[in-house]
Amino acid sequence: MTLASLGQLAVAPHATSGLPQQQALAQALKALDPGPILAKVPPQAPGRYAGWPVERWSGAQLSVFALGPRTTIPLHDHPGMHVFTRVLRGRAALVAYDWVDRECLLAANRVASSFVPEAPVWLTEPERSNLHALETHDQPCVFLDLFLPYYDEGAGRSCSYYDVRARGADPRGVTQLVRRAD
Ligand SMILES: [Fe+2]
Repeated sequence: MTLASLGQLAVAPHATSGLPQQQALAQALKALDPGPILAKVPPQAPGRYAGWPVERWSGAQLSVFALGPRTTIPLHDHPGMHVFTRVLRGRAALVAYDWVDRECLLAANRVASSFVPEAPVWLTEPERSNLHALETHDQPCVFLDLFLPYYDEGAGRSCSYYDVRARGADPRGVTQLVRRAD
């Protein structure tokens, strides 16, 4: 799978509108040769992370992120976006939530997962697991994010960061978030 072929799939009409299309994109991302991308990833110091675009298409973007050990990407959202995540190297812990009420900053359905290269491609959707946070421990982590579409503040797709203010005893229950200052 080449970047050009992945791009063709990603920008096809209705690329994420149904399960078969989503599965095809996940398979294409999993089949992409990571060698040339990994060769350009510099090591990240503990507590540091960086991300940059690998390829931009009209309506989609592939980015790579590198996290050092003991690093956290705070809870953030992906408004109206699909994001396909493939881990290339290392390990990170993921916690994700669904929005219940974005105005009132209420989230629910907390799920936890391990980001490892063997794991299936992780899918972030507008209505499911749209918020997530990542944390590495002793190992660094490198992963790819395929965004459909990418963040665009002018189109109402800005990235916001949140803290958990209150979480009930039920891990799937409603969680009150507070937006971090920009
Ligand atoms: Fe994210």
